[in-house]
Amino acid sequence: MDKFVIRGGNPLVGTIRVSGAKNSALPCMAAAILTEEEVTLENIPQVRDIETERKLLVSMGAEVELGDGDARHRTTISCRTLSDPVAKYEIVKTMRASSLVLGPLVARAGLARVAMPGGCAIGGRPIDLHIKGLEKMGATIEQAHGYLEARAERLKGAHLVFDKITVTGTEDLLMAAVLADGETVMENCAREPEVTDLAALLTAMGAKIEGAGTSTIRVQGVARLHGAHYRINPDRIEAGTFLIAGAITAGDLVVANCNPNHLRAVIAKLEEVGVKIDIVAPDAIRVRPGGRLMAADISTEEYPGFPTDMQAQYMALVTQAEGVSLVKENIFENRFMHVQELVRMGANIKVDGRTATVRGPSKLSAAAVMCSDLRASASLVLAALVADGESILDRVYHMDRGYERIEEKLRSVGAEIKRMGNVFAPREAEAVAD
Ligand code: UD1
Repeated sequence: MDKFVIRGGNPLVGTIRVSGAKNSALPCMAAAILTEEEVTLENIPQVRDIETERKLLVSMGAEVELGDGDARHRTTISCRTLSDPVAKYEIVKTMRASSLVLGPLVARAGLARVAMPGGCAIGGRPIDLHIKGLEKMGATIEQAHGYLEARAERLKGAHLVFDKITVTGTEDLLMAAVLADGETVMENCAREPEVTDLAALLTAMGAKIEGAGTSTIRVQGVARLHGAHYRINPDRIEAGTFLIAGAITAGDLVVANCNPNHLRAVIAKLEEVGVKIDIVAPDAIRVRPGGRLMAADISTEEYPGFPTDMQAQYMALVTQAEGVSLVKENIFENRFMHVQELVRMGANIKVDGRTATVRGPSKLSAAAVMCSDLRASASLVLAALVADGESILDRVYHMDRGYERIEEKLRSVGAEIKRMGNVFAPREAEAVAD
């Protein structure tokens, strides 16, 4: 299993480039199920979750080309034949976003068999809202042997109101609605940029969608969709992670190829903490020291609020800020697994229910730590970048699920980080998060 060895203390200086958004690429790849024609996606990040999704589509009979060399960020997917509309447990257990194929499979093939996701590192992650929506659209759903089986001759447009805001639930039902018979109105939708990205691809494929990016989405179903060529937006979570890498190391970093508009809540919080942030180009943000780091509270919310996927990284930052910061996690239960590892590195953090109290600044010292999920790993990398001495991060395969060659990117701006072991070596997957 790969490890990262990180020697802390270097300020990060230079320009670091952000890859395409994993959480946009995943639903966009699933959207290819909706057409017999080819869908080509650009700016696909080279991360393990994308490889998992490729395997998932291939296991259903799709042809998926992932380029290499200069073309390694492009994929062309052809779902002309879907011989086996099944998302197998072996794949679903490693990537919960696999449930994104449920809606498109029923819409296109009239049948989907998707393994029920099991326990998950960041709390229970049910898909009841996906199921409820599909049932309202006329699908019959049965559960047996750990699988959900959904059937519908043709889905019917419906009025759906989400009990709770769900990102992949909104995406899954949006993909179901585009081929349904009649109009679907979806209320209390997720407004995340990844939903807008998916809607833009679907529109390019011939779907009729209004309101993506707002809480009410209207879809006029069409009989068929065609192929498309689409470029995925930059990854706002990777960009936010790099902003914090610049801030925590008191460096001078330009985070390039990002969309500052998608990062407003994160930027506002970093400014409150005392970091100097400048938008130096429409797609680039500069981060540098603005004085001492001062404590500030966050409370994770749905977009456009502070993202839960940045909570762990932010917590690493405020271990270096003066005063008491309250970090409240509202989206997921049990998303504080990074806390015990940060404490082992010298942070002063107490958790009570969904709130962590961080007292800073703490002098962090290098330690051997264990990555427990994707964003928790990112927070440990950030902590190790300022810790005194050489940290060893175990189980970095969590990191590889969502960050493209992060050690090379960080090294190019001055970090002392190296990987021990084989990149993407086969391994027995575990239940994973996010
Ligand atoms: C997506 C993101 C993930 C991010 C999360 C919240 C992808 C691939 N993953 O995950 O990185 O952390 O949004 O921004 O895009 N819920 C239900 N029933 C459902 C669905 C969700 O109760 O049917 C609950 C969840 O348990 C959770 C909340 O709704 O408490 C939000 O989850 P959701 O937005 O669905 O997260 P994901 O889409 O899985």
